[in-house]
Amino acid sequence: MTETVRGMAARPRLVERYRRFLPITDATPALTLGEGFTPLVHLRRLGERYGLPNLHAKVEGQNPTGSFKDRGMVVAVSKALEDGSQAVICASTGNTSASAAAYAAAAGIECIVVLPKGRIAAGKLLQALVAGARVVAIDGNFDDALRIVRELAAEGGRSVTLVNSVNPHRLEGQKTAAFEVCDDLGRAPDALAIPVGNAGNISAWWAGFCEYRAAGIVDTAPRMLGFQAAGAAPFVAGHPIDHPETIATAIRIGNPASWAKAAAARDESGGRIDSVTDDEILDAWRDLARVEGIFCEPSSGAGVAGVRKLAAAGELSAELIVCVLTGAGLKDPATAERAVAPITEAHPTADAVRSALRW
Ligand code: F0G
Repeated sequence: MTETVRGMAARPRLVERYRRFLPITDATPALTLGEGFTPLVHLRRLGERYGLPNLHAKVEGQNPTGSFKDRGMVVAVSKALEDGSQAVICASTGNTSASAAAYAAAAGIECIVVLPKGRIAAGKLLQALVAGARVVAIDGNFDDALRIVRELAAEGGRSVTLVNSVNPHRLEGQKTAAFEVCDDLGRAPDALAIPVGNAGNISAWWAGFCEYRAAGIVDTAPRMLGFQAAGAAPFVAGHPIDHPETIATAIRIGNPASWAKAAAARDESGGRIDSVTDDEILDAWRDLARVEGIFCEPSSGAGVAGVRKLAAAGELSAELIVCVLTGAGLKDPATAERAVAPITEAHPTADAVRSALRW
């Protein structure tokens, strides 16, 4: 038996709530895994440490497959179904494939994934495999994989849909995160900090803020602060990187597909795209867990690492800042395991445990 609290509206589907801003029509199949409506958390303790009293996190790891990709994937796969597709195909550093596999399974269509061999966090790869995706690992990086799936999708005609963020429906869905932040705050933030890989997400968030401002729902739009890993920072270099390297495998991308859109978001918003080192990323990632209780995946630490760096340089202080934590911590158990001390062991007695704890 279900009981609802009187006066509390049932939670709507994400695409219904923001339908007026999305390419959803009565002909679009209703598909959902419960995506969106993720928490916006005030990082009081971390903000105090960094000298940023108004620091917030949008916890996108709480989406159904554990990353922000679900917001765009629900729209892209719904539209693929509407168009009569029998399969979706994508390249991925992991999260896109986990999301595509889940939504394809729910839609009853096939999912094909091409990804860089040995460079996908275990949790993400298992999500795609268990959901029944057909996965091919290549001796190459994400940029190679994206080139290959673009070619295959072009040959496949209408029956296979490319669901990387070059599919415009992906960005349409992803912009709903910006709407939610504005709805929760009752205004737009002053700055939005976000990791940048293939550069679709920063472009989608910027589109969302601009559409809310154009609709008169908010008066302003934030400065967009994108952060890349130092070894995979084509925006900072000003040209593609042939051999991107970073511990943050989700954003190990050298030739972002949405380069022009992200550069426009940066310039129109008066923002910037900067880089942070792997050590800075891991420090922020650890801080989020230890100081705030939020376990995200390493690449999600890039935005927090970036605002910490800008605060230390005196470029950020009391502004209302939102950091996007793009994926969940359990995605990448191997990196987490390397970052923590080994477990203390003891005999099964209170005395032994007491001495192991040095009580
Ligand atoms: N954070 C996470 C956890 C990601 O998985 C990605 C991208 C990004 C940030 C960067 O977003 O590419 O829109 O700039 N992951 C893609 C994938 C590339 O295949 O899962 P972006």
